[in-house]
Amino acid sequence: MAKKVSEVLVSRTEIAEICARLGAEISADYQGKEILLICVLKGAIVFMADLMREITVPCEIDFMSVQSYSGTKSTGVVRILKDLDLDIADRHVIVVEDIIDSGLTLSHLLDILKTRKPASLKICACFDKPDRRLAELDVDYIGMAIPDEFIVGYGLDYEGQYRNLPDISILVDDGQGGMNE
Ligand code: IMP
Ligand code: MG
Repeated sequence: MAKKVSEVLVSRTEIAEICARLGAEISADYQGKEILLICVLKGAIVFMADLMREITVPCEIDFMSVQSYSGTKSTGVVRILKDLDLDIADRHVIVVEDIIDSGLTLSHLLDILKTRKPASLKICACFDKPDRRLAELDVDYIGMAIPDEFIVGYGLDYEGQYRNLPDISILVDDGQGGMNE
């Protein structure tokens, strides 16, 4: 079944409010400290770009790209496609994610990062699907919990497409059938 973008679930205005709130919370929590934001590629780039501009304490950024093993989700084992450029030892690290679904990818990524001995390690996710969680995960900063729908836009993709949409929309079957049906 072919897919199409349905109604807007979270508007760009609401997203801007989320970023302002999270940026203020993080800035208050890290007063007097320097932070290192780690963007999990590719989905989190748009959120990270907005979030960092709402943070008022000194911060550096770095990027990491991981892939779940065995094609599909659920093993919780990840392969590093692109590692960090920076050493995170003794740094205050915040991992920035677009959305947490099962939580398996992030929980394994955290295990890897913990072995590098950061001074502290927290998670900031723009969106969360709490109903689908399989891994136990303490998420320190959450933008918004959303229902169990597949969403696109604001960095989030379906088969590589739709990351450029400024709002978050639900992706639905278009009822037409198609090549990939
Ligand atoms: P997890 O390991 O199941 O938590 O996988 C989370 C990753 O799956 C996210 O970082 C996204 O890249 C992707 N993902 C999960 N839900 C959605 C969605 O609704 N739209 C787009 N990508 C999603
Ligand atoms: Mg992702």
